Amino acid sequence: MVSFPDLRLRRIREQAPLRKLTRETRLSPSGFVYPMFVTHGQNIRQPIEPMPGCHHLSLDLLAEDVGEAADLGIPAVLLFGLPQEKDPVGLGAYDPEGIIQEAVRTIKREVPDMMVITDVCLCEYTDHGHCGVIDNGRVDNDATLELLARTGLSHVQAGADMVAPSAMMDGQVRAIRRELDAHGHETIPIMGYAAKYASAFYGPFRIAADSTPQFGDRHSYQMDPANARMAMREIESDIAEGADIIMVKPALAYLDVIRQARDRFDHPLAAYNVSGEYSMVKAAAERGWVDEKAVTLELLTAIQRAGADITLTYHAKEAARWLKERE
Ligand code: PBG
Repeated sequence: MVSFPDLRLRRIREQAPLRKLTRETRLSPSGFVYPMFVTHGQNIRQPIEPMPGCHHLSLDLLAEDVGEAADLGIPAVLLFGLPQEKDPVGLGAYDPEGIIQEAVRTIKREVPDMMVITDVCLCEYTDHGHCGVIDNGRVDNDATLELLARTGLSHVQAGADMVAPSAMMDGQVRAIRRELDAHGHETIPIMGYAAKYASAFYGPFRIAADSTPQFGDRHSYQMDPANARMAMREIESDIAEGADIIMVKPALAYLDVIRQARDRFDHPLAAYNVSGEYSMVKAAAERGWVDEKAVTLELLTAIQRAGADITLTYHAKEAARWLKERE
């Protein structure tokens, strides 16, 4: 084995061009997905307080922001909707004229090259805030499947390019796959939120989406943060049900899970850099405690180094701009 003084690892780091050439992980906007929040009304661009830089956007203002993302080289957006009304069974989720369905139509009409991914879940649409329907005080898995399938189909019928079920119901990928295939949409892929943890890092999102559970919590369907082997089983089951892309969520506190998933499965792997992870960076940066640009690019690099091909991040646009500067 060669060792010092014959071995000098700093030789590789001495020259800037060589540092570039030997970089193992190369960040690019082509790996980002930009999540957006759509709302009813006109001319609405309401800042989301705990997520600085993110807004509730009305349909008439949507295309401009989506166009900006497209110009920055971001291939896809992920849509979340705020319905006018909520009810026990989340009618707004599968309403053919619902907020997401209209948003999808708007984007596909005005920025047709932007890929539109929709989040398929009920929690933004139910008055109790749970991701499924309630029966006797518990979330009823199988009764929820039918509604998730209907939701996914309605998104695709509106023009969605891919659907992403996030309710953590057993069988949700299979239910949606069957429904899509039965209606001739066998070419539309499914990105499964396969290993989704019951995480406190979703806090800012729940304020943004007004989707905090009104009783109990999500621990009976989302995963225990202590479990990594269970994540592998969740991913396996999503793959068995027909998921084309698998996901680990959140990202930063679960880099080990991303790495294990990368080593174990050959499916394209996504990681969701969630709201709380974003808000922490924003808050510290606002106080001048961290350099937002440097910290963000370091974190996004870490997610990719851990093994993610796709990163869903609220920082997508800013990061794309910073990467352009850094070139
Ligand atoms: C819907 C959903 C949630 C997030 C994505 N899809 C909220 C939740 O499960 O409570 C969280 C996203 C984020 O925090 O950025 N179920």
